[in-house]
Amino acid sequence: MKKIFLFGLKIFYKMKQNNFYITTPIYYPSGQPHMGHAYSSILADVFARFNRNDNCKVFFLTGTDEHGLKIQKAAEKNGLEPLIYCDKISKVFKDLTKKLNLSNDDFIRTTEKRHYKAVYDLWNRLVKSGDIYLSKYKGWYSVSDEAYYASDEIVEKNGKKFSTFSGSAVEWVEEDSFFFKLSSWEKKLLEFYDKNKKFILPISRRNEVINFVKSGLKDLSVSRTSFTWGIKVPNNDKHVIYVWLDALTNYLSALNFPNTNDVLYKNFWPASLHVIGKDILRFHAIYWPAFLLAAGIKPPNRVFGHGWILSGDEKMSKSKGNILNPLEIIDTYGIDELRYYLMKEVSHGSDGSISLKSLESCINSDLANNYGNLCQRVFSFIKNNCKNKVSKTKNISNSDKRLIEQTKVLTKDLKNEMNNQNLNNYIKSVINISFLTNKYINDEEPWKLKKNNVEQMNNILHIALEQIAKISILLSPIIPNASAKVLNALNINTELKNFSFLDGKNIITDEIKIKELDILFKKITK
Ligand code: MSP
Repeated sequence: MKKIFLFGLKIFYKMKQNNFYITTPIYYPSGQPHMGHAYSSILADVFARFNRNDNCKVFFLTGTDEHGLKIQKAAEKNGLEPLIYCDKISKVFKDLTKKLNLSNDDFIRTTEKRHYKAVYDLWNRLVKSGDIYLSKYKGWYSVSDEAYYASDEIVEKNGKKFSTFSGSAVEWVEEDSFFFKLSSWEKKLLEFYDKNKKFILPISRRNEVINFVKSGLKDLSVSRTSFTWGIKVPNNDKHVIYVWLDALTNYLSALNFPNTNDVLYKNFWPASLHVIGKDILRFHAIYWPAFLLAAGIKPPNRVFGHGWILSGDEKMSKSKGNILNPLEIIDTYGIDELRYYLMKEVSHGSDGSISLKSLESCINSDLANNYGNLCQRVFSFIKNNCKNKVSKTKNISNSDKRLIEQTKVLTKDLKNEMNNQNLNNYIKSVINISFLTNKYINDEEPWKLKKNNVEQMNNILHIALEQIAKISILLSPIIPNASAKVLNALNINTELKNFSFLDGKNIITDEIKIKELDILFKKITK
């Protein structure tokens, strides 16, 4: 009977599902992964997991961006052929997806055949629409950013030229090049931003982009002739396609574009959300929609530009040599711990400094002393005093009511916060529910009722378990391992692990039998 019910529930939810396509930026395999990469990936994974729990059909994509001069140079430095070099480093990034516990549905490499097909098709569409012409590029180029910069974006320091935007070194380039008529898309882009107010979030980034477009767009060089590592322009072997036009297309290739009848493309394009760092906003929020509009393809629904992870005051990056290695941190502290810390402590719109000291204090205060302690104390009390079984009564006290009401208030806006990428607010509210539940147990003192009022004691424990179930489901996109342990110990079927309780439903049964729960988070002591 239970099986038939769950099956029916599954079919019902499948019928009601919305589609949600989320991407991370595909990573340059030009060096080892660092915390900035981990941050971008985990952030996207949290949105992917949240939407799965929220009953969406989700497709979550990540991968590696393997062409261009930057990669060709990295391969040369390592004395390897570019593809052999990319095979090696792309694997390191693929392994990282496992270490970070990402729930990606695909991992795309831009050296794959399926990607070439998509890039050729997009290029041909742009030629056909009359948006591409042949000329000569004369100007500044940064290999490290794979970006062109105008003269007013360049500064000179000790005889060398740098981009004022990114601080990266630039070189002067003069070569034959195909151009994309970006200038003719200026007005249409502004109209597009105006119609789609949430296309770029946070708002500060949207304003930045709009001001940049308003200040005038120049045509964009979209092919290079001074090196060979890339996708060749169709019918013109001298040119390789500009790596950003190549790379951005990955979002389409993974859906089997150009086959627009493919079920993946039909279900998931336009993308719901591209999660990216602010350094690559121009490519995603200006070039990408312009290419797509010119090619007659719908632009994505949203680009969310997060800030940088800083070490002190500087962006954490290989070239700056200030990297905190995510793999070492995971080995020492655990993956849920790193995920929680990055999502809670780094404000997603702006830059955020991270350090081992603040990581440890966040683990202790929120995970070990708050959520972990709540679960442990309730589970072990029920094990020691109730033979792992608790049942609910109808007598609700004023403090029970107060906790239930406070939880309702704190959960009211959670979906909205997540759907607008306000993850910091979301986490703050959920951890606050955990804090209030701990306080409720302290105030209600169920241990004092063991002898004289077992019914009331049961009720307090039942309410505490219901709170723990809610908090665990809400935290599951962020700390999937720990919350799965708790939900398993509560015998909660994964089919029911969705947010329907936000509409006021209870999660646990009136009579509940729990399993034993191991320690979730170890307190860090020095
Ligand atoms: N290959 C391009 C993306 C192409 S998407 C079509 C790229 N790769 S990257 O490896 O350099 O960066 C990948 C992501 O990591 C970007 O979103 C970037 O903003 C992010 N981060 C890299 N360093 C970072 C920090 N220090 N902090 C936060 N994120 C930063 O760009």
